[in-house]
Amino acid sequence: MTAPQPRPGIMTMAPYVGGKDTVEGRATVMKLSSNEGALGPSPKAMEAYAKAAAELHRYPDGGCEKLRAAIGRHYGLDPARIVCGAGSDELLNLLVRAYCGPGDELLYSAHGFMMYPLNAKGVGAIPVTAPEKDLRTDVDAMLAKVTTKTRVVCLANPNNPTGSYITREDVRRLHAGLPRQVLLVLDAAYAEYVSRNDYDAGVELVNAAENVVMCRTFSKIYAMGGLRLGWMYGPAAVIDVMNRLRQPFNVNAAAQAAGIAALDDVAHVDATRTNNDIWLPWLTAELTRLGLQPRPSVGNFVLVGFGSQARAEAANAHMMNDGVIPRMMHGYGLGDHLRITIGTEDEVKAVRDSLARFVAQP
Ligand SMILES: Cc1ncc(COP(=O)(O)O)c(C=O)c1O
Repeated sequence: MTAPQPRPGIMTMAPYVGGKDTVEGRATVMKLSSNEGALGPSPKAMEAYAKAAAELHRYPDGGCEKLRAAIGRHYGLDPARIVCGAGSDELLNLLVRAYCGPGDELLYSAHGFMMYPLNAKGVGAIPVTAPEKDLRTDVDAMLAKVTTKTRVVCLANPNNPTGSYITREDVRRLHAGLPRQVLLVLDAAYAEYVSRNDYDAGVELVNAAENVVMCRTFSKIYAMGGLRLGWMYGPAAVIDVMNRLRQPFNVNAAAQAAGIAALDDVAHVDATRTNNDIWLPWLTAELTRLGLQPRPSVGNFVLVGFGSQARAEAANAHMMNDGVIPRMMHGYGLGDHLRITIGTEDEVKAVRDSLARFVAQP
């Protein structure tokens, strides 16, 4: 008798492996492997989370009404065109389930976020990559890869793990070159860290087009990855599809309460952004001085080139031994790089010190 068989594509997925958070033999570590907010969550969010405990017997608001209203107020958006999810991962996954099927193509940039090909494979669709220029999305190369089978194009902007971004004009050009039936997913998980005049997270294009959505998260600058909370903004028709497909209570009550409180704590978000504005350029300059190749980044992390895979692996082992945990990049075909989250002053200085000892080794 044959055993039950999963649907085509699923066994081609490598299970996602998150950033390491322990080092054998060390009680305390500096976890810089998952791009979590350097200052931790807002005290107001923690308070709201704790308060939610007394109501755990109640189902959450399935429509996230208050949270959507708060997001709408905060970002100047129509709450009716927002859907919340258990992390933006859930929304990115549902979008692919809704708009891609077996044999369809999902297009993304060569070093785009790893969940895009996994989501495609999960529905039997074909992940297609476009080559990059110097680890940046190349709009012309993306457009050259569009075929009659392309259903979804995913663009992380800024991109994880490269830290690069493309301008509002380039995103517009990408959109203008896509057939109208192709859904453009703008994944702006790190948008709050970007302070460039030529950047737009996606709101302008969502407002102007019927085939563009923007995904956002509370996991990065709001530092609530443990709660799983994300949201998307899109055209009414796509929102309708998502509200049919999502689970009725996909966002838990504590996440909703903490999300509203986190939005309210503007000072905490500002402090987190300021921390990044100081320590991202500092670490980039320090690592350059050490002879390493940190890539220009607009996120809360930096991708660092070591020249060879062997050297990146040795650097990873050296940092781990010092209790500092970066992220290996083999899964992205960037085995000669490590990705390091921008932490607090103590953490980025520990990175610099550890790598200074590493490069000084004979
Ligand atoms: C580009 C990008 N998109 C989406 C996500 C998913 O974030 P979450 O599911 O925690 O909202 C991440 C997390 O690392 C990311 O880097």
